[in-house]
Amino acid sequence: MKTSTNELNRREFIKTTGRIAAVSAFAGMAIPNVYAAGSEVVQLALVGCGGRGTGAARDAFAAKNVPVKLVAMADVFADRLNSSQNELKKLGDGFAVTPDTSFIGFDAYKKAMDCLKPGDVVILATPPAFRWVHFSYAIAKGLNVFMEKPVTVDGPTSRRMLQLGEESVKKNLKVGVGLMCRHCRARGELSERIQAGEIGDILLMRAYRMHPAVGSFASGPKPADISEVAYQIRRFHSFIWASGGAFNDFYIHNIDECCWMKGAWPVKARAVGGRHFRGSNVDQNFDNYSVEYTFDDGARLFLEGRVMDNCLTDHSSLAQGTKGFAVISADGHMPSHAAIYKGQKRDDASLAWAFAQPEPNPYHMEWADLLDAIRNNKPYNEVKRGVEASLVASMGRMAAHTGQEITFEMAMNIAELAPGLDKLSLDGPAPLIADANGKYPVPMPGMNGLKEY
Ligand SMILES: NC(=O)c1ccc[n+]([C@@H]2O[C@H](COP(=O)([O-])OP(=O)(O)OC[C@H]3O[C@@H](n4cnc5c(N)ncnc54)[C@H](O)[C@@H]3O)[C@@H](O)[C@H]2O)c1
Repeated sequence: MKTSTNELNRREFIKTTGRIAAVSAFAGMAIPNVYAAGSEVVQLALVGCGGRGTGAARDAFAAKNVPVKLVAMADVFADRLNSSQNELKKLGDGFAVTPDTSFIGFDAYKKAMDCLKPGDVVILATPPAFRWVHFSYAIAKGLNVFMEKPVTVDGPTSRRMLQLGEESVKKNLKVGVGLMCRHCRARGELSERIQAGEIGDILLMRAYRMHPAVGSFASGPKPADISEVAYQIRRFHSFIWASGGAFNDFYIHNIDECCWMKGAWPVKARAVGGRHFRGSNVDQNFDNYSVEYTFDDGARLFLEGRVMDNCLTDHSSLAQGTKGFAVISADGHMPSHAAIYKGQKRDDASLAWAFAQPEPNPYHMEWADLLDAIRNNKPYNEVKRGVEASLVASMGRMAAHTGQEITFEMAMNIAELAPGLDKLSLDGPAPLIADANGKYPVPMPGMNGLKEY
């Protein structure tokens, strides 16, 4: 990565937080590498048994370079745990979870991690707001970690996660972050070619993620038979405190892969966005966003995000340099169809390089890389990069929601959205309160200063 002023500020910041971390409760000596050069099975526990958690556990098996066994699972909801178990039982002998190692509730994560021994791997796949809570315990237990993206949704939790990341490095823990495109072999070769100057200096990048509603993007009124906390967690894409909203959850991959190619994080963002027609939905999301990210050298990344039915769809990332044009991803996460063109036209005659198909599956590669690092005791910790990508995503979201230009440092310092998540309970007070009509506050650019809602 290029060194910018912004990067230096972050480094100073990380050094400081590192010093604070050294005296934290989790400070300790590096753990020995439990799995170096052996054939021992690596045990897994899954925290957050939804769609991605179930998929991530499956991908650990699909990597196939190190034998793994799933021994414990945790979720706040029994139905989610049960449906995930029904799927994962299909793994056969590798599924070694029993009723005694299946846990429900807000403290279930601790019980699942207590089933592991130091050097085993815990998968953290809950909504991102809980990442720092669960990562803290994983570090205390000396566990290696695979955590899903995003890893934070605001500045204060980003600072906390950077501090925890430092702590995990000191303990020689291997930590993977689910920005799987970073493990895509096609994008990897593209990045090397771009760094070698094949498209010249990047001046402009464009990222598009436009498709109909997915996940819990839109939410109708809360049913009477479910608690407020339970509702907000089940519909986490609808609530900014839980996920960063659709913005962070959906757009982080495109933002991250563009910044990877650029070799830098942007220093500031300005953005527009709004809710066109949301019917009786009560969630907090805008249905369209347009962000201009600026890098320290003046280059730009334009991001267009839209969640709307019956409109043009596009899920791609593109880079334009002084000598050529690059497709970073053509249509979704995989295959990337990474390619380089001479000049700025994307036609067959201008094609200079394309990664040979079929591309290895990046969701399998991220596990192969993590497990290889564990087995061979290689340095491997993606927390800092994961936090930075998450904060850059938050920076764009904050710019759209406040109507202000937001710098990296501002994003780092804007107030925490949901303090005290380590003490949350299903029937206790919720991080967000609906009005008398059951509607949650939505961002109103220009009306609330730097407060998003
Ligand atoms: N890398 C990718 O391509 C990709 C794809 C999808 C999702 N994700 C990420 O994975 C994470 C989960 O997304 P999902 O689509 O699986 O959502 P999901 O709702 O299907 O699963 C989340 C699960 O976590 C559980 N949960 C919530 N809070 C919990 C807590 N405090 N303790 C224990 N369990 C808790 C929920 O009950 C649910 O079962 C998100 O961060 C999302 O961004 C990544």
